Amino acid sequence: MDNLIIRAKIRQNLKNVGTLPSIVSNLIKVLNNPRSSARDIARVISMDPGLSARLLRLVNSAYYGFRTEVLDVQKAVGLVGFNVIRSFTFCVTVFDSLFNLQGLPGFNKEDFWTHSFGSGVVARSIASMLRMGNPEDYFIAGLLHDIGKVFILQFFNTSFLKIAQSTVKEDISFIQAERQVMGNLDHTLIGRWAMEEWGLPELLNRSVQFHHDPYQDEKFYSFVRIVTLADNYCKEKRIGFGGDQILSHQYETLSREVGLTPAVKDRIQQQVQQEIVMYSKLIFNNKKNRITVNG
Ligand SMILES: [Fe+2]
Ligand SMILES: [Fe+2]
Repeated sequence: MDNLIIRAKIRQNLKNVGTLPSIVSNLIKVLNNPRSSARDIARVISMDPGLSARLLRLVNSAYYGFRTEVLDVQKAVGLVGFNVIRSFTFCVTVFDSLFNLQGLPGFNKEDFWTHSFGSGVVARSIASMLRMGNPEDYFIAGLLHDIGKVFILQFFNTSFLKIAQSTVKEDISFIQAERQVMGNLDHTLIGRWAMEEWGLPELLNRSVQFHHDPYQDEKFYSFVRIVTLADNYCKEKRIGFGGDQILSHQYETLSREVGLTPAVKDRIQQQVQQEIVMYSKLIFNNKKNRITVNG
């Protein structure tokens, strides 16, 4: 397939489908404005009743443990803070469209969500541990790192099926299979294009593009490598399933670089499990919950 044709097709589809809901773009604008108040943010969230309801459920959950019940969105925004609101919005909206897609053999949506969400939580935990920048940026980067796969599933259904089959038959990684089936094109590049269409910051675009080889990105290396670590951590600990469980040959070196020892890994695992249980309830509402943490 010709990259230009694929890119044009994806761009067109992104415009038609609007995979990133407009509420997220509106919220990013408001959150990026230093003069915005909790009231401005609450106003945007309140336009989406589903989002508002889920925010209230999150704030009133045992996870936060506030003593009195929070009943209005503005108060909820004030309590959890702008950064958590941003992560929360990405989390509950980006994957909504995924769950409307038809399933395919070899691809389980819940497992894919768990892999993505788990990578976000792990990236945030490592960033907090190392005191690197805003941990919520790492969460969003981890959450979105494999988003390109959703577009392959959505727009190139037949290719997706072939890729999934090749990973099993030939025992190769998902990205290797993608390049074989799609002529050197893979989810990292498609994901980057989608991020550009959404107007997300370059830091996030780069982490999506280079998460399989952070050494390629000199400028944002210290950020991107955390996403690579989180992705591999989830594969190692069998947190969900993102297409394959093959660990990168860079995993060990990267773990050493940041001090991700077995003891630290165990500590992170508790946090991930807790958050997956909490958020999967919000995401899947009353749908049958098939989330497994180790499996
Ligand atoms: Fe990936
Ligand atoms: Fe991944």
